[in-house]
Order: sequence, then C-alpha cells, then structure tokens
Amino acid sequence: MNPFSYHNPTRIHFGEGQIAAITAEIPKDSKVLVLYGGGSIKQNGVYEQVTQALSDHQWAEFSGIEPNPQYDTLMKAVEKIQTEGFDYLLAVGGGSVIDGTKFIAAAACFKGQDPWDILAKHAPVETALPIGCILTLPATGSESNKGAVVSRGKDKLSFMTAKVQPAFAVLDPATTLSLSPRQISNGVVDAFVHVMEQYLTFPVDAKVQDRFAEGLLLTLIEEGPKALENPDDLTVRANIMWSATQALNGLIGVGVPQDWATHMIGHELTGNYGIDHARTLSIVLPAVMKARRQDKEAKLLQYAERVFGLTEGSTDSRIDAAIAQTEAFFKAMDVPVRLTDAGLAESDIQVLVSSLEKHGMTALGEHGRIAIADSEMILNTALAH
Ligand code: NZQ
Ligand code: ZN
Repeated sequence: MNPFSYHNPTRIHFGEGQIAAITAEIPKDSKVLVLYGGGSIKQNGVYEQVTQALSDHQWAEFSGIEPNPQYDTLMKAVEKIQTEGFDYLLAVGGGSVIDGTKFIAAAACFKGQDPWDILAKHAPVETALPIGCILTLPATGSESNKGAVVSRGKDKLSFMTAKVQPAFAVLDPATTLSLSPRQISNGVVDAFVHVMEQYLTFPVDAKVQDRFAEGLLLTLIEEGPKALENPDDLTVRANIMWSATQALNGLIGVGVPQDWATHMIGHELTGNYGIDHARTLSIVLPAVMKARRQDKEAKLLQYAERVFGLTEGSTDSRIDAAIAQTEAFFKAMDVPVRLTDAGLAESDIQVLVSSLEKHGMTALGEHGRIAIADSEMILNTALAH
C-alpha cells in the first residue's frame, strides 16, 4: 500500500426527511444562493422542502444549470453573486448542479484574469465560497469530493481542490424516486466505473481498499437492475445512493494506483457528441479492459474470482468471462457497450483522438502508458460488436 493522508470533511445527512437538516447546517446570518438545474426539484417536492428549511434564512435562487454544466451559464451565477453579495451556496440536484456550484464558488473569489484558467490551466484556487448540497441523483460522488467537471462548447475539463468540497451533503433516497430509468441506469453505471477506475489497476496489497471496492461492485450489480425493475423500492435506492457516494469520496482510492483512462476518453465522447457521461463509460471501459489486459492481469483475475466467482479455466478464459459479465451487467442496466450502439462510426474516432491530443491526454492510465495511439486502439476496440 502506498503512503497517504486522508480527510473527508463533508458531513453526511442520510435518510428520509434529512433535507430539514440544512436549517442548522447553514449559518443563520448568511445570504444563501440556492442553485439548481432544469426544474426536476420543483416536480418532486424537493424545492418545497428546501423553501421550508430556509424559511428563517435570507436566500435567493439561480436555476438552469444544465447537464454537463456550461461555463457561460455558470458565469451568469458568478455575476449574480458578485452584484448581490451571496456568501453561501446551496446546490440542489445531480452531479452537474453540484459541479457547477463548485466552479461558481471558486470563480466568484478568483483573483486571476480569466476564471476559465481554473480548468484550462489549473490556476490555483486560493479561496472559494462555502458550499452545501442536497443530492438528488446518486452517481458522481461530487457531493463529498473535491472534483468538478465543467464544459465550454466541446471542451469538457475538470479541476480538483479541497476548497470546493461541500461542507455537508443531504442524501435522501426518497428524492431519487422521481428519476427516469435512464438516469437511474446512468447513476449506477457511473458509480460502478468509479470503483473500477480505482480498483482495476495492479495489486499493492491494499486489502481493505480492494474488499471495500469489491463490496461496492457487488452491491451495484445486485441493486442496479432491481432499481429498474422495482422503481418504488426505497431500500434499493438507499443502497445505491450510499454506494455511489462511497465510490468516489476518496476512501477506496487512498494508497492505491488509479486509472481514469475510461473517464478521460469518455469526456471526449460527451464533449464532441453529447453522449451522457455514464453511457460513455459503459462503451469505453470494456475496451480498456480488453486493450490493457496484460497490465491489469492480476486485478482482472481477482475481479473475476471475487465479483463473479470465476475460478475455473485458463487465465485468458477467466478474464474473457469477467469482461463478458461486465458487459452483461451494463446491458442489464440498458446502457450502450459499443460506439456503434450510440450511433457513432469509425470516422468519428479521429475526432476523438484529436480532442484527446488537444486536451493533453497523452499519458493516461495507472502507468501513464496509454499514449494517443493506445487510446485510438481502445476506441477501435470499442467500435462494434
Ligand atoms: O436539471 P434537472 O431538472 O434537475 O434534471 C436532471 C438532469 O436533467 C435530472 N435529475 C436529477 N435529479 C433528478 C432528476 N430528474 C428527476 N428526479 C431527480 N431526483 O437528471 C439529469 C442529469 O443530471 P446530471 O446532474 O447531469 O447527472 P449526473 O449526476 O450524472 O452528473 C453528470 C455530470 O457530473 C460529472 C459528469 O462528467 C457530468 O458532467 N462528473 C462529476 C464527477 C465529480 N464531480 O466527481 C465525477 C464523475 O465521473 C463525472 O465526471
Ligand atoms: Zn464518472
């Protein structure tokens, strides 16, 4: 196991009715800006609960943060904050709203010339406004981590700083009952791939991280399809919600090598073709598993045995079966597993390769050995059935 320091300062309020906890979490004397997306919170009762909980606070709202939040939209919120003087941000929604709020929190305090530099040049974030969040879509882990992904046209870039980690996160599984089947699937698959990015690398004898990761994978494989079959089952939603948070709150990633090639390639698919984040991952991950099977052999065998009970046969056949089972799980979640499933063709691969190059994604993976030509090979592997 590699050395690490770990601190996760986000206080979690989990369970039905916990939105009420924001009353005590947000300082009474603060001027709060509530940020949300396209309006799902107005249809599922979340907005009313927020209004009630903030009845003794001074607050206003900013809506319209879109999926894959766009820089120009977020800068409108920054302008509002700077003219009206808000000092606390409450994000209410999925990963896009929370990520967008993280960027807004940093950009509102940014002293440099151009806030886009936070993403494009990794300009340091010295201070940011405090953030709390109410999560309505279990997927990204953004509610208790320090990362955010922001888009500007076709450029989809990320930044990470402890300065934007939410102070608290409300996780009420009941808020997720209004999700469409597509968003349920997206969330389960995103969380699954987050675990894989931190697990499917090479062994460093990190037994706790490995077994926690396997527990999350097993839970998502077990509960994901149930959420589609029994959409009213709150227990299923609770287990998915807690899994998604644990998948990317830093815990399983401490002291272990991490991959993230699937995500970096996936971001280009979203940036260029607008494919939902999770659906890019379900296309790219199987191809990464195939193309990097030598680098990942030991962990692929461990995954095959501990997650799917595959212990018989040659190394190759166990790895093939584990990849096939992964694809079967994605299919059960009704997400695409090939570029052609998402309507892309061979001619699109060059566009993706050029974008990877433009964004400096030239040394991906746990060894930094996935060069542009290797990403091209992965995309070719992901092309068709
Ligand atoms: O905008 P509203 O009206 O709220 O509708 C949203 C949106 O259309 C809807 N939704 C959310 N909660 C709902 C609901 N609809 C009904 N009932 C509810 N309870 O779902 C749609 C998608 O929302 P979005 O926030 O875009 O989804 P998700 O949570 O999957 O976030 C995706 C974004 O997060 C980034 C992705 O790249 C993408 O931009 N990621 C962030 C990460 C992080 N910060 O750590 C890591 C991830 O790997 C990921 O990259
Ligand atoms: Zn993701």
